Amino acid sequence: MKILVTGGLGFIGSHTVVELQNEGFEVVIIDDLSNSTVEVLDGITAITGEKPLFEQLDLKDRTKVEDFFNRHKDVAGVIHFAASKAVGESVQKPLMYYENNLSTLVYVLKEILKLEHQNFIFSSSCTVYGQADDLPITESAPVKPAESPYGNTKQIGEEIIRDSCKVNADLKTIALRYFNPIGSHPSAEIGELPKGVPQNLVPFITQTAIGMREQLSVFGGDYPTEDGTCIRDYIHVVDLAKAHVVALQRLLQNKNETNFEIFNLGTGKGSSVLEAIKSFERVSGKSLNYKIVGRREGDIVAAYADTNKANDVLGWRTELSLDDAMASAWKWEQKIRNT
Ligand code: UD1
Repeated sequence: MKILVTGGLGFIGSHTVVELQNEGFEVVIIDDLSNSTVEVLDGITAITGEKPLFEQLDLKDRTKVEDFFNRHKDVAGVIHFAASKAVGESVQKPLMYYENNLSTLVYVLKEILKLEHQNFIFSSSCTVYGQADDLPITESAPVKPAESPYGNTKQIGEEIIRDSCKVNADLKTIALRYFNPIGSHPSAEIGELPKGVPQNLVPFITQTAIGMREQLSVFGGDYPTEDGTCIRDYIHVVDLAKAHVVALQRLLQNKNETNFEIFNLGTGKGSSVLEAIKSFERVSGKSLNYKIVGRREGDIVAAYADTNKANDVLGWRTELSLDDAMASAWKWEQKIRNT
């Protein structure tokens, strides 16, 4: 069965391609290489022993998207990762974000509607909840006004899919709301490749530990939490990748209850920034140079998932710990810096 993975050379996309191949799916990847490299294909191949099909293609080019689907009418499902994801950049370049993340979604959906099998998985984010009133966060928690154009593209993306599902009974979709994906494949053949100075916590931790950054700034030590730092739900990217395969199988086997379903993907456990640092120090044996500084604008205090729906309905649960994720992130950082 052929599955299209857009953004399949990116961080979560590449790990999902591995899990799809492990389950026997044939994978075709579309990626524009804007935030990835073609060498990721070698990493995937090293793990699975099978090179996925790959087309370098910009999904903003509607004619090329049409042409791709004309050549791949046998696609049985689409997992759509391709999108820009830097929150700060989205504030500076809102139109680029709306074009990259939403026009491409529309073009892909239009082509899916012409296929025999109309199965679609969308990468959404817990960012749609903003600072939720109740923790852990269930899927029925209200969507809060977006804090950034990036966050808004995830909210509007879900609305585009919901509206399309209302009038296209054959279209079956699942939106997966990720909490904080971290880590890498345990083989260290693939992992996260942030461009420039990392904005996310874990790549900043590993780059500091390896000596690329002087010091980690911990943003805020006066939050109303046990140790004063923010709480997040850090999920191992391999667990996250496996959830995509389970969600896809749900659609392929017509087990979905409605044609637009939403699932949180997290561990259900909140960890503070200091706990994350301790976990890293424990598994790496390194002491991290960090300093508590002022809060980062736009940060929420605490977010972690209620995982009951994903556990009960999807039958999926996480298997890996924060320590596992930190150990894999560290192994990956050491590998790419040749140490
Ligand atoms: C961020 C985005 C979110 C996006 C997600 C994708 C913001 C405000 N939010 O979430 O919209 O969906 O990435 O991965 O950018 N931290 C430090 N020092 C650092 C970096 C981070 O203390 O150098 C802290 C942050 O304050 C936060 C935690 O680490 O408490 C996690 O930060 P990060 O990895 O950026 O993720 P989010 O802020 O949860």
